[in-house]
Amino acid sequence: MRHGALFLLLLLAPVKGLTEEPPYQPDRFFRTQILPILQRRCFECHSQEHEVEGGLALDSKTGWQTGGEAGPAITPGDLKQSPLIQAVRHHDEDTAMPPKKKLPPIEIALLETWVLLGAPDPR
Ligand code: HEC
Repeated sequence: MRHGALFLLLLLAPVKGLTEEPPYQPDRFFRTQILPILQRRCFECHSQEHEVEGGLALDSKTGWQTGGEAGPAITPGDLKQSPLIQAVRHHDEDTAMPPKKKLPPIEIALLETWVLLGAPDPR
């Protein structure tokens, strides 16, 4: 390789590093993708600041770990054993959440992804 080409490669290397996707960061994923959904869609009925409907608070990790009347709202890694996921899928009218309006598919998919990743929650 000629020196000129090698020099060019060295120059480009750091630039390529900058444009690469950042590695998956569990806490960051929660704060940027999951917390805003919970805040916007659930907190009015499931937070200490407002209401704790069904005994379920979603504004803390212990909130969903303890869960409400139906027990823990999430079993990390297990969609079927996570009442929160069953609720947002709106399969059953009686347990559908939010009660009136179903979430957009992207938000349901993000919540499912979060649970499958083990529900990282730094709060
Ligand atoms: C307008 C109020 C309201 C909103 C918004 C709401 N919920 Fe609920 N939620 C309730 C009520 C009331 C109950 C208890 C009675 C019932 O199950 O319908 C409940 C119960 C639940 C339960 C069952 C708790 C248990 O242990 O029995 C889950 C899980 C749940 N909600 C998840 C959510 C999630 C996730 C969101 C946001 C995406 C959400 N809810 C938004 C009112 C709400």
